[in-house]
Amino acid sequence: MVRKYEIIGLDARQVFDSRGNPTIECTVNVGKGAGSARVPSGASTGKHEAIELRDGGKEYNGKGVSKAIANINKIIAPQLIGMDVRGQEEIDKILIELDGTPNKSRLGANATTAVSLACCRAAANAKQIGLYHHIGSISHEWEFKVPVPFFNIINGGVHSGSKLAVQEFMLAPKTKSFAKAMEVGVEVYHELGEMLKKKYGKSATNVGDEGGFAPPISKTEEAIKLILKAVKASGHEDEAYLSLDVAASEIFKKGKYHIDGKALSADGLLKFYEKLIQNYPIMNIEDPFYEEDFKEFAKMTDAMDIQVTGDDIFVTNVERIKHGIQVRACNALLLKVNQIGTLTEAIQAAKMAQQSDYRIMVSHRSGETSDPFIADLAVGIGAEQIKSGAPCRSERLAKYNRLLEIEREGVSYVGWFQ
Ligand code: PGA
Ligand code: ZN
Repeated sequence: MVRKYEIIGLDARQVFDSRGNPTIECTVNVGKGAGSARVPSGASTGKHEAIELRDGGKEYNGKGVSKAIANINKIIAPQLIGMDVRGQEEIDKILIELDGTPNKSRLGANATTAVSLACCRAAANAKQIGLYHHIGSISHEWEFKVPVPFFNIINGGVHSGSKLAVQEFMLAPKTKSFAKAMEVGVEVYHELGEMLKKKYGKSATNVGDEGGFAPPISKTEEAIKLILKAVKASGHEDEAYLSLDVAASEIFKKGKYHIDGKALSADGLLKFYEKLIQNYPIMNIEDPFYEEDFKEFAKMTDAMDIQVTGDDIFVTNVERIKHGIQVRACNALLLKVNQIGTLTEAIQAAKMAQQSDYRIMVSHRSGETSDPFIADLAVGIGAEQIKSGAPCRSERLAKYNRLLEIEREGVSYVGWFQ
């Protein structure tokens, strides 16, 4: 007899992400019900991220995922069939062992992530509880909270055709509820669109990969000033902070940081940030330096009274986070499950960071799908923050809309956390 939570089959297939590249959708069937998950994909990926397995060759510009899909259907499925789907740690342990490499390069982190997340959802469905409730039950340490959204309303770097060096200009609303934060984000976004249209013409409202505008400007301060103007014009002057993701590894060439027409040393860049922080309400800077420069991250964390978030430097990897904690680099962790390849490892990363009082910002990828998994993940692990792009494009809104639903279920909002 098949038990309710017993895994009876896995089915993986190719679907497409928001950039039109192949990705994986996996369904896990259990005795009573099923669960599916789709995997996102980054563009400004960290050097130490787990490996996304791509087919290479001509088809889909080498981005096909048929090998990763075959790994799920032929190698992973036979090992998981018969297991209890509620045993997330055991399932992920098998994935890690089957892969046997330090960076998931054999099976592909896209394959392991798809399976890991689909199992989690199948377990929640079979238990007939919300996904975040199930994620919370994997470890009982967390109090459910709806996180503060960080809206990426101007896209630069490798995410758009604009000349801005900084990859993301985000708006972090300062409100008492998530619904109100959405209102602020949406109104500022539309006001900014109107302003850009008037100033630069209609094409300035074209959007980048994460739904933010990609105007024809090239200076960091210009983008910041435009956003602040939109904040004021929309009547939300005291209701928003700014946040930047510099994704500095992308602008680091031959020992210098190329930004705003200058080639700066790490020291010069630090001074540049110092001035920005003095002049504008910036509360967070993500990846301010090259991903290997723990020392410079630590210097900035110590010197400035703002949040310093580690993305490419940590890649959701406990070893790198441990090192960061030791040398006091950053005070917040950007959490992306597919950077490490299993839910259990991502949760371990979050726990380690939380134990050292690092804040957690759960994150989407620039290549996304309509899967809202990270909304439940953020709530389930009690993360203070989430970034899911602009309030534009359905793959971005899928996460924000899910958080609206969770708030309506009665989960309280983190609110402002300073
Ligand atoms: P990515 O960008 O998904 O392209 O890596 C997101 C980020 O850098 O935070
Ligand atoms: Zn980043």
